[in-house]
This record gives sequence, C-alpha cells and structure tokens, in this order.
Amino acid sequence: MTSDTRLLVVQIAVATLVAYVIWKLILTVIRYRKYCEISRKIVLLGDYHPIWGSLHLFSTVTEYFDVVKKFIDEQRPKTYQGWVLFLYPNITVCHPDTARILLKSSEPKTKYHAGGAYRMIMPWLGDGLLLSDGRKWERNRRMLTPAFHFDILRPYVKVYNEVTNIFLDNLSRDNKRDGNVEISNYVTLATLDTMLRCSLSYNGNIQQEGKSNPYVKAVIRLSTLVLYRSIRPWLYWDWAFYMTSTGREFTKLCHYVHDFADEIIRNRKDALRQDPSQLNKRRLDFLDILVTAKDENGEGLSDLDIRAEVDTFLFEGHDTTASAISWAIYSLAKYPEHQQSIYEEVHSVLQDRREVEWDDIPNFKKLSMFIKEVMRMHSTVPLISRWLTKPLVIDGVEIPAGFSIDISIHAINHHPDVWPDHMEFKPERFSEDAITKDRDPFSYVPFSAGSRFRLDLVEGHKYVEVPEVVMRSEFGIKVRLEERHKDT
Ligand code: HEM
Repeated sequence: MTSDTRLLVVQIAVATLVAYVIWKLILTVIRYRKYCEISRKIVLLGDYHPIWGSLHLFSTVTEYFDVVKKFIDEQRPKTYQGWVLFLYPNITVCHPDTARILLKSSEPKTKYHAGGAYRMIMPWLGDGLLLSDGRKWERNRRMLTPAFHFDILRPYVKVYNEVTNIFLDNLSRDNKRDGNVEISNYVTLATLDTMLRCSLSYNGNIQQEGKSNPYVKAVIRLSTLVLYRSIRPWLYWDWAFYMTSTGREFTKLCHYVHDFADEIIRNRKDALRQDPSQLNKRRLDFLDILVTAKDENGEGLSDLDIRAEVDTFLFEGHDTTASAISWAIYSLAKYPEHQQSIYEEVHSVLQDRREVEWDDIPNFKKLSMFIKEVMRMHSTVPLISRWLTKPLVIDGVEIPAGFSIDISIHAINHHPDVWPDHMEFKPERFSEDAITKDRDPFSYVPFSAGSRFRLDLVEGHKYVEVPEVVMRSEFGIKVRLEERHKDT
C-alpha cells in the first residue's frame, strides 16, 4: 500500500467515525428533547437538580421509598417522574388507574435496555416464565398450566408441614441459646427447602446445613450480586460488569446453579426413560410436568427451557415467600392482639392436631386477612416494570415506545386515595364485607401462611424496611419466641 492510499484509508476511517459520533449526537439530542417534552406533562418528584436530577433527594433505596411515600401522601399523583442525573426521566405509575393500563397491556418486562431491572437476572434465570414474553411466554404458560392444578398442589401440604417442623426446631434452638432469634435467614432456608422438595423432589438437608450447603450459598449470593449490580449504574453495561471480580463471580455461580439443575433434570429424564410407569406411581412434581409437557404440535420443552423454568420457579418461589413470611412473623410480634386472635383461630381449626391439612386452609379466615394486610403494608415485591414497544397514553400523556415505566406496587399499597390510613395495620380491610364490588382489582395482589409460637419484638432492635428486589430488612427481623400451650 502506498503512503497516499494509507492516508486515504485513515481519512475515510476518521470521517466515518466523526459521522457516526455526529449521528449519535443528533439522535441523543432528539431523544433528550422528547424526554423534556414528556417531562413537562408529568408531576416531578421533589426539586430538580441541574446535575443530579432527582438523585440528590435520597442516598439509599430505603430513603427513595420514604421520599416517594411522603410525596404521594402530599400530592396524591397517579403517575410521577424522577430524573436519573440530568440524563433521562424515570416514569412511575403509582395508582390502580394508571397501573391498570400497563398491566392490561401485553408490554414486555424491562430487559432490553442497560438498566433494565430484569436484565440483570437473565443470565441466571434464562428465558423462563418470569422473563420471557410474546409467543414463547404464551406457549410455556399453557404447557405449565397443569403444574398449578389443585391435584398437584394438594400433596405439598405434607411437605410444608415437614419443612415447618425443621424450621421451628431451628428457631427454638437459637431462641433457647440467645433469648431471641433472627428469623429471616431461617425463613429463606425453609422456603428454598420447600421449593426444592416440591418442584424437584430434592431433599438435601437444606435447613440443617444452612449456608454451608453449596447450592443454598450460590442462590443467596446470586440474589445479592443481582442487587449489587442494579444499584450501580456503571455496571449496567455487560462489558463493564463482567470485567470486575463481582461479574466473574456471578458467571461462576450461574454455571454452578445451572450444572446443579442440569444434573437433576438429566437424572429424572433417564429414570423416566428407563421406567415410564414411574409417572403413574410417584407423586408428580413440577419437574415431571416440565419433562413430559407437550404443546399442541406434540413438541416438548428443550433442555434449556426446562432449566430456565426450574431456575425461575426456585428463585421466584423462595425469595418472595421468604419476604412475605418474615414480615408476617414480624407483624404477629408487633400486634399481639392479632397474634392472639390468629392463634385462637388456628387452634380452633386444628383442634388437637399438630399438622395442617389441605382442607383446613379455607378455614383460616383471619389468618388470610392478616397475611393480605402484611403484604399490603410491607409490599413483598415493591416494584415491577414494563418496556413500551409502542406509544401508550398514561394519565393523559402519550409516552413513546422505547420507554421503561415502573409500576410501584409499594406506592399503590400506600396511596391515601386507595388505602385510607395506609400506615395503620388493619387486616379487616380484607374482610368479605370490606371487599366490595367497588374495590379496584388493580389496588392489590393477594397470598397466604402460619405458626405455633407466641411472638414478641425484641426491645432496642431496629426493624427497618429495605425495598430491594423484595422487601428486605436492614438489620434482620429479631423476635422472641415463647412456646404456646393449648390454653394461651
Ligand atoms: C408471596 C409470594 C409471591 C409474591 C408476592 C409474588 C409476586 C410476583 C409478582 C409481583 C410477579 C410479577 C412480576 C412482574 O410482572 O414483573 C410474579 C411473577 C411470577 N411468579 Fe411470583 N410471587 C410469589 C410467589 C411465587 C411462587 C411461590 C412461585 C412459584 C412456585 C412464583 C412464580 C412466579 C412466576 C413463574 C412468575 C412469572 C409469571 C408470568 O409472568 O407468567 N411466585 N410473582
């Protein structure tokens, strides 16, 4: 190549680069103008700072939720925006009227852009029901419908009783030794144990071994790393995250949990291949349903799909229930009058039995109202989000495609126009009389659980909500247990 040709190549390369940068700048300016235009029409969370946007209003995610709660109490908006630095507005819906529009749309979860909340868990959970969308979601959802049938769930009550007995032994032991016990770690072990037993028929002494069990350790650590990344915007880009030691640890742990699931799936497939009649004899678990499921064309799920569903159910099934049960135990201890009335109800339903049966469940009426109120007060999953693939009018404002919109379940649960006296704990909100036809179905998402100890809060311990992927507690939830006797 002559020096003239070399010079020409360099000039073309530089010109292309400059053109690319200018093109990107033009797009950025157009997008920014669009942001500002929409922004003028939506109420802003607090004061805008020219550099920090809305970020100067809080320094932790807990503070953010407190600021939002106060703001909603005062302004009562249905939608609000907060700015991420001066760069872009983050739009949040916080009322059933606006949440309904998004939840009724078939817009996918926010996993396509760098900060997308769901994107961080994709390498771990894969394209399972939680993260998939469109045709794939519809097909898999249809194929998994039998997994939610009562006949499948009914025998799990025996598993819940077995798991609960080990859980209560753990609590008793620590309480005897220390005079109180931090319950949230034990609850997490119990819900993970339940999910492993129910969905994979895997019984690995999870609660006895605790965090020394490598699978438990990996799942708990993966949840921590997902959150670690989600609050550090500079790690949103894959290349930046996977260069760090945390990113490398995340990859290693993903491989570990995938290998764990792959082995269980392979063994079950081999066993069923050798003896298909096992399906008639043994209690079908979630894995059997996944392995044998067929769509309308007679095609089953791929090995990768099966693994994604297994990982999704294990994660989604244990982390959420652990949060809800932990805050339920906290609330039993905080409101002794409710604790007593629930105890009396459980006692009157069970009589002399120590274990719950399937048919008892509808009779736990007060317990059910109590749990619903716990999940309203401490919003188990505080926030979800959706990605707009087409423009959508929300609260009279047209939001263009390419926007991510948060749905703050926590803000809806604490909106004074939806739940008057929202900071007061009132399970009677969920009595049959109170649930009138007028109550908007988008004002709440329900669920259920139980116990046989008297619970008290520990004086001097700080009980602080931390709204992460699920509502965690900053210093753990310490309670004192006192074994109940029949007449107390
Ligand atoms: C207190 C308990 C639970 C709460 C509060 C809860 C909450 C939620 C929420 C809010 C979503 C929607 C996420 C979104 O749209 O972004 C969701 C989805 C999902 N949850 Fe749960 N969940 C709970 C228990 C469970 C359990 C026990 C399982 C499995 C056994 C489970 C499996 C799933 C799955 C597979 C999805 C995705 C569903 C789909 O999009 O088709 N969840 N959950």
